[in-house]
Amino acid sequence: MEYTFLATTPFGLEAVVARELEELGYRDRVVENGRVYFKADALGALRCNLWLRTADRVMWVVGQFEAHTFDALFEGTKALPWADWLPRKARFPIEGRSIKSQLSSVPACQSIVKKAIATKLAQTYRESWLEETGPLFSIEVSLLKDLVTLAIDTSGQGLHKRGYRVHTGPAPIKETLAAALVLLSRWRPHRPFADPMCGTGTIAIEAAWIGAGIAPGLLRSFSMESFGWLAADSIREVREAAEASRNHSPDFQITAHDIDAEAIAQTTQHARLAGVSEYLSIAQQPLRNFSPTEPYGCLISNPPYGERMGEDREVRLLYRQLGEVMKHHTTWSTFIFTSHPDFERLFGKRSEKNRKLYNGRIECHFYQYLGPLPPRLKMESPPENHLM
Ligand SMILES: C[S@@+](CC[C@H](N)C(=O)[O-])C[C@H]1O[C@@H](n2cnc3c(N)ncnc32)[C@H](O)[C@@H]1O
Repeated sequence: MEYTFLATTPFGLEAVVARELEELGYRDRVVENGRVYFKADALGALRCNLWLRTADRVMWVVGQFEAHTFDALFEGTKALPWADWLPRKARFPIEGRSIKSQLSSVPACQSIVKKAIATKLAQTYRESWLEETGPLFSIEVSLLKDLVTLAIDTSGQGLHKRGYRVHTGPAPIKETLAAALVLLSRWRPHRPFADPMCGTGTIAIEAAWIGAGIAPGLLRSFSMESFGWLAADSIREVREAAEASRNHSPDFQITAHDIDAEAIAQTTQHARLAGVSEYLSIAQQPLRNFSPTEPYGCLISNPPYGERMGEDREVRLLYRQLGEVMKHHTTWSTFIFTSHPDFERLFGKRSEKNRKLYNGRIECHFYQYLGPLPPRLKMESPPENHLM
């Protein structure tokens, strides 16, 4: 049986998540700010948790109705068959958000929804008091223009928590965002790949997972696996199918360099935990020594932004140096993710495209300089054209 799910996304990445869902075969996609609705069965939701590289979470939409008053919110919530989904001892914290709605107080909406669900469960289970000591069902109430959406989180921890990153480094980007940068570049594994300022290695490792067809959720579990909705055999089959679809002998090269010894130690450890050490060439090396031996590569990097006092001068020099270095590699495509407002001027060239994205709350741009395609691959699709 099919249900409505929604994949929540960072702002600016809705189209990327929608395309991932399309490639996974899910239909009836509806894209909104920060979320993509789609239809799937319960096993499909597990597959999405396992395979989506760029979404934050997968939520199961259990109810939608209009509410202009707290009474309507309470009654609309209580009318749903909560005991069909939540066991007697379920823990059910409520998350909330409200945009352009009469019910604008998020804490008030959360407590009304909590009360309505508790009332319904207590009635159905004939309990006067709910223990809340069992499995966790995180519930979201969101209001958009007075339309209430109630959804159960099937992911648990955010999907960026892949399970390999044990160090955060001074300025990391989320694994989901790093994967999005790689997907937006349309890098293909037959082209060399480099991140010469790799920090904790996130972009290089996400590229390696994409290149080897490794499902990003294989190292972790999802809350829906403990809901009791799916048989253990079915869960095992979906996980085994994901394991089996990995390409065990991919042929690609990824270099991950950084000037900082600690960053290199962290990248090395993360690559090992992610199971991709064999594809990565990791070394402590300053950007000025970047000298790939192969043409037609793809460089994706997230250099320092210079947000802290005193760093801006160094960062400006680094961006100029990057421009100079890449002048010697004109067949390479260069993709830079930064919040620095002067990046293009310092790099010395306007990007062909740039895309506004957020690193947490920091507004950033993804600057794209497309090199020529390798001669025998002129038919390859151009980077992200149909995503803009
Ligand atoms: C914003 S961090 C990268 C974070 C990374 N994307 C991650 O997820 O961990 C920028 C990195 O650039 C490195 N860096 C700064 N100057 C450099 C240079 N001249 N050559 C190579 N790396 C440099 C820093 O050591 C730092 O690790």
